[in-house]
Amino acid sequence: MQIIIINGPNLNLLGKREPGIYGNLTFEEYFKDLKKKYPHIQLDYFQSNIEGEIIDKIQEAGFTFDGIILNAAAYTHTSVGIGDAIKAIQTPVIEVHISNVYQREEFRHQSLIAPNVSGIIAGFGMKSYELALLSFIDQ
Ligand code: DQA
Repeated sequence: MQIIIINGPNLNLLGKREPGIYGNLTFEEYFKDLKKKYPHIQLDYFQSNIEGEIIDKIQEAGFTFDGIILNAAAYTHTSVGIGDAIKAIQTPVIEVHISNVYQREEFRHQSLIAPNVSGIIAGFGMKSYELALLSFIDQ
């Protein structure tokens, strides 16, 4: 099974960025442990602060991978392009957020990608990614 985690803007700063909301762990540390825990899964990781690069990666993985775990970060709330990319591909996408976006500012309550994803996981900290992974494994 081949799964990719795609992280959007500012998530390269996890560990340093607003630790009260996003925690102290870098994504690289978390990802290393996740790969160790699920050695039978081919788990890839991509991060970009650039909307078009995220769209390119969704298109690239979207016809060959078994699943995409996407934290589009701020683009979740603004990007018609990422929403359209998800609609265009065959691979199922799970939308993930580290924080519970519904407890936060109102502009974070809207997701332009949500109508096109198979499911949404939010508010479980970094564990949100693992829960998304489990939903693919348990299928
Ligand atoms: C986030 C929530 C978004 O609103 C925010 O812009 C992010 C991270 C999360 O994982 O909680 O950058 O997607």
